[in-house]
Amino acid sequence: MTEDRARLIEHAFPLKQASLDSVHEKNVRHGHISTLHIWPARRPLAACRAALIATLLPDPGTREARKKLIEKIGGTVVKKIEKKKVGGKTVEVEREETIGGLLHWGRESVPAVDEFREEIRKAYGGRAPKVLDPFAGGGAIPLEAMRLGCEATAIDINPVAWFILKCTLEYPQKLAGQRRPLPQFALESPEFMETFFKGTGKLTKSQLERNLQAVQSRLFPAPDVDLAWHVRAWGWWVLQKAKADLEKFYPTIDGKPTVAYLWARTVTCKNCRATIPLLKTRWLCKKDKKRVLLTMSPNLDKSGMVFGVESDVPVVGGNPAQRREHDRRVGGGTMSRAGAACPCCGAIMTMEDLRLEGKAGRLASVLTSVVVDGTGGKEYRLPTSEEVRLAVDANREADSLFSRVPFGLPDEPLPSKEALGFRVPLYGFDRWAKLFTPRQLVALGLFVRATRSATDQMKALGVPKDWIEALTAYLALATDRIADRGSSICHWDVGYEKIANTFSGFRLPMSWDFAESNPIGESTGSYDGQLEWIARYVAQTILGISHLSRVDVVRQSAIQPVDGSFDLVVTDPPYYDAIPYSDLMDFFYVWLRRTLAGLSEEIDLSFRESLGPKWDRERDDGELIDDASRFEGDRARSRENYEAGMFRAFRASNQVLKPEGRLVIVFAHKDPQAWETLAAGMIRAGFLVDGSWPIQTEMGNRTRALSSAALSSSVWLICKKRPEAARPGWDNLVLEEMRANIYARLREFWDAGIHGPDFVWAATGPALEAYSKHPVVRKANEPGKVMEVSEFLRAVRRIVVDFVVGRVLSLNDGGQTETGLDDVTTYYLLHRNDFGLEDAPSGACILYAVSCNLSDKDLADRHEILVRTGGRAEDAEEDEDVGPEDAELETEEGTGSKVKLRPWHQRKRKSLGHDSEGSPAPVIDQVHRLMHLWKGGDLVRVDEYVDSRALRRDALFHQLLQALIELAPAGTEERSLLESISNHLASRGPVAEKVQMDLPA
Ligand SMILES: C[S@@+](CC[C@H](N)C(=O)[O-])C[C@H]1O[C@@H](n2cnc3c(N)ncnc32)[C@H](O)[C@@H]1O
Repeated sequence: MTEDRARLIEHAFPLKQASLDSVHEKNVRHGHISTLHIWPARRPLAACRAALIATLLPDPGTREARKKLIEKIGGTVVKKIEKKKVGGKTVEVEREETIGGLLHWGRESVPAVDEFREEIRKAYGGRAPKVLDPFAGGGAIPLEAMRLGCEATAIDINPVAWFILKCTLEYPQKLAGQRRPLPQFALESPEFMETFFKGTGKLTKSQLERNLQAVQSRLFPAPDVDLAWHVRAWGWWVLQKAKADLEKFYPTIDGKPTVAYLWARTVTCKNCRATIPLLKTRWLCKKDKKRVLLTMSPNLDKSGMVFGVESDVPVVGGNPAQRREHDRRVGGGTMSRAGAACPCCGAIMTMEDLRLEGKAGRLASVLTSVVVDGTGGKEYRLPTSEEVRLAVDANREADSLFSRVPFGLPDEPLPSKEALGFRVPLYGFDRWAKLFTPRQLVALGLFVRATRSATDQMKALGVPKDWIEALTAYLALATDRIADRGSSICHWDVGYEKIANTFSGFRLPMSWDFAESNPIGESTGSYDGQLEWIARYVAQTILGISHLSRVDVVRQSAIQPVDGSFDLVVTDPPYYDAIPYSDLMDFFYVWLRRTLAGLSEEIDLSFRESLGPKWDRERDDGELIDDASRFEGDRARSRENYEAGMFRAFRASNQVLKPEGRLVIVFAHKDPQAWETLAAGMIRAGFLVDGSWPIQTEMGNRTRALSSAALSSSVWLICKKRPEAARPGWDNLVLEEMRANIYARLREFWDAGIHGPDFVWAATGPALEAYSKHPVVRKANEPGKVMEVSEFLRAVRRIVVDFVVGRVLSLNDGGQTETGLDDVTTYYLLHRNDFGLEDAPSGACILYAVSCNLSDKDLADRHEILVRTGGRAEDAEEDEDVGPEDAELETEEGTGSKVKLRPWHQRKRKSLGHDSEGSPAPVIDQVHRLMHLWKGGDLVRVDEYVDSRALRRDALFHQLLQALIELAPAGTEERSLLESISNHLASRGPVAEKVQMDLPA
């Protein structure tokens, strides 16, 4: 865009479609970016694609044209009825999905993508726009920019991210469209060629046999194949090589290949000295039709346990709750919140005991059972003595093996026990190598060596240099994927009968009972399977890349200046303490460093340090996260450091953005105050905010990020560069301008179907324009003082909230002015209107609370209007170590990610509905008090209360009663009480006239 034209995103956005397709995308696997390698908090591609197109294209100017364009991008939303099983019953549920458009997964190569590429180029005078992501992480944003034909620059400070970005963007872009003959060794393998023929075309059985015969008699010429097939071929080569050395460690017994070995860590009982297996659960498999338990009883001399396997465990209990309770009882392990109970003497080894034992190196482990592939699915049995011996034998090989691997055994230190999300150091796991069993270390070491040999072999065969680098890189990712499924943090998923990977959440919790995969097998956690995910990503991505796209992957800090000038900066920065990227991803860093050493100068330079970068005080630069453990526990300093660093990063982006460019920035933090601080930083760095869209990007998973700090929707903020000549503003004028503009935008959003907390977020960006067009906003009546963003946003949110409440109360001005309702009642109405009395996401409720000048804590503890339900306590440290099985024991009041309104009959405080400490009782409290009085049947007290507060003449009170009646489900006691009270008030005197609201000037 050569001139500064308004963009589509500044007026309209396919919000619903982007949200639906983003959430849907979390379920897709084949070929998706998330299957290449773990990177925490990858943004959904649908959201990135939508934001990029809507920012790259100009606003067409009219409502009709916008609608048409939005539909072209996002398609239309339709409702579908689906049958679902809930509690053993089949129920019909309504689901919304998109039809058409190009956001849905699988539509990245539809013809409309080409048309958009054309449109985008046209908008930029026939050239490719330049897009920068300075916090690129796993690469979702630059990948989409590249797909849309842009010149993308992807920056991340972390070498693991940088390397993943190369695999995600650079290699596919360089090698898309190129083909090379399949290597001879692949042709010589009937097994590989069968996979090849099956994967490249539909053949009849006889055609397949003919082809295989032709290959065997060397009549089949080596076909030219793309990068994905070369990844498969070289992966096959690596697997054969590693297998030759590894087979002896994974014996097949009775013709049934091993899927996984199941272990329990052990500790010696401080009382009777028996060996206690530390088991969270004894369930091995828990499905509707397959229920297997590990049994356990003390051995004869009570020095330890004898295990058994019980299949076909019966279902007991008349209803789901009883069945759950029974299963919990029969499948209980030795671990509970209190610690580990000794099955021989009943003594408890407390968590503190376990930590001490762990730190002293006295935690051991015992092989409890083995999962094998049987004829009818997975089977569970006890280990043979040979299997027990082999697991120990591996110990002897590890040292000599790693002496032949660059940098030796991965003995680099783990972060301290104070680091964010790290539990394992508390139990003595202070070196990365300690997270693996000896056999896991040997397996990974052999895969590292086999990959390095493959590189040498490629060189010997004269494979071009850029192919060697790309192929080795993908093979290194495969080793990382088996490490993720091959550490002693992995557990056995008893519902899906599979290995749950190390990074199921973005933290490193302690695992008591763990599962060890068989990497050379063909089941869960195998090398074969991991390689296929990678090959599919490559195959899918090289198809969708335009020959015009360019990409530049840079490892540097976003704080430092970048070369070039950009049309667009789109980025998703790190948020305070949400995810400790570098600490967590060091898990992979140590393996990549060993696999890749010597591959290229650039790679060696990137991995020259023993671990990924943290904060470097001398250079005053580094990873931007708020982790007090990096500042000797000084929380305030850590926070300040993060905020100052983010400001510098925003300023660096501002400096490279063209004058007419745009910055789109994603915020996914649930705390609006954190949000305000970052927004203030952006404004200070020279940006003018003029739009915001809350895109639903996550499912309700419980990862560390989601349970502690993130919103399920992320807010995408749109900014321009503020002209250098912009002058300071005055608060009264800024507020006036905001008020004059906001109602039109609110009506637009409301009519477009944007409701609930999304409505507040959607209004925030446009409202900020009036404020952020000034470098600073001064207070007209308080010389020397400035109006902070938070103060301005409070005013905005109150208007937005009153707009919604006005609609709920059916006020005759359609919610255009302040309602006069107190804050608590306003919150109650908003919450009740959106979520009823059901569980509601706490992120959304916190936003509503802040909009009403309240906090969720106030609402829960002081006003007793909210109850925390579900989720896990953020600081319930012991729970994390005990894990979900026991965490389930906690019912009713949780402290986690959900909240709900306390029903009126549970609000029984004596002071309910009475003024306290000079503050008038919230109207909702008055209503609830009246309901209790009415239910008690004492009309005199009802009337006394009504008269004492002059409620009969209070029009707003009547309107509230009416709204509450409409919100209460028909036939409930609540509704009938409210109706009775309303009728009583009406019969005892004239209802005052409706409040007449002043319309804004
Ligand atoms: C929220 S993640 C980005 C995720 C990305 N949008 C995706 O879809 O995968 C934030 C990223 O910022 C990176 N980061 C942290 N500090 C940085 C710095 N100073 N410079 C550049 N990148 C940094 C982290 O390594 C992390 O990858």
